Amino acid sequence: MSSGMRSTVTLHVVSSLDGFIARTDNSVSWMDSPGDIYPKGVTDDGAEVIQSIDCYVLGSRTYEHALQLGWPYGDTPTVVITKRELPSTRKSVEFYSGDLKRLVDEVLAPRYKNIWLVGGAALGQSFLKLGLVDEIRLMIAPVTLGNGLHLFGNSGMEQKWLLKNVVAYRNGFVDLAYRRPPTDS
Ligand SMILES: NC(=O)c1ccc[n+]([C@@H]2O[C@H](COP(=O)([O-])OP(=O)(O)OC[C@H]3O[C@@H](n4cnc5c(N)ncnc54)[C@H](OP(=O)(O)O)[C@@H]3O)[C@@H](O)[C@H]2O)c1
Repeated sequence: MSSGMRSTVTLHVVSSLDGFIARTDNSVSWMDSPGDIYPKGVTDDGAEVIQSIDCYVLGSRTYEHALQLGWPYGDTPTVVITKRELPSTRKSVEFYSGDLKRLVDEVLAPRYKNIWLVGGAALGQSFLKLGLVDEIRLMIAPVTLGNGLHLFGNSGMEQKWLLKNVVAYRNGFVDLAYRRPPTDS
């Protein structure tokens, strides 16, 4: 567990119903809202959750894709994991290469409380394998993609997760929040 103040690492991604987080051609139109199709759902835009995020962590491929699509992380501090020398594009972005446990314990936890790991699949799987994920938040989009980039590969690790919250939206997206049982920490 992290030293200093208690921080939480949340793995957050949007997934298709069949478990993909990206199409093979990287296009993202599958994430478009189909409009109001579930009358019992809520319309909350998630602004409060976004406000509470202290830092984002992303893999280099997610970073490169985010730059192409239009930067969605505002001025919130963002750490990009890469072994390459990538051009620095924004003041809020820093790069990190090396041990991920050290990243969480020594670089992030002393500075940030609410840490959001926003993918991609490769980096998410590395964090999961190392037991560095405290919470998983999956936004399930109402679509099956058939192929693409799998969110979860073969981590070789069984892990139970406790359901923390479920929110169903009017547009048919469902937000599932899980936390790691406390005995694991
Ligand atoms: N649906 C969603 O919510 C969502 C979220 C995020 C991303 N995506 C999509 O997913 C795709 C990118 O995901 P991805 O899985 O291909 O790549 P990724 O996880 O974003 O980035 C992987 C890269 O991170 C670097 N890295 C350094 N240390 C690592 C470590 N210990 N473990 C893993 N990676 C490490 C490596 O880059 P270097 O070679 O630079 O060292 C590696 O190639 C994009 O299409 C993106 O748009 C979707």
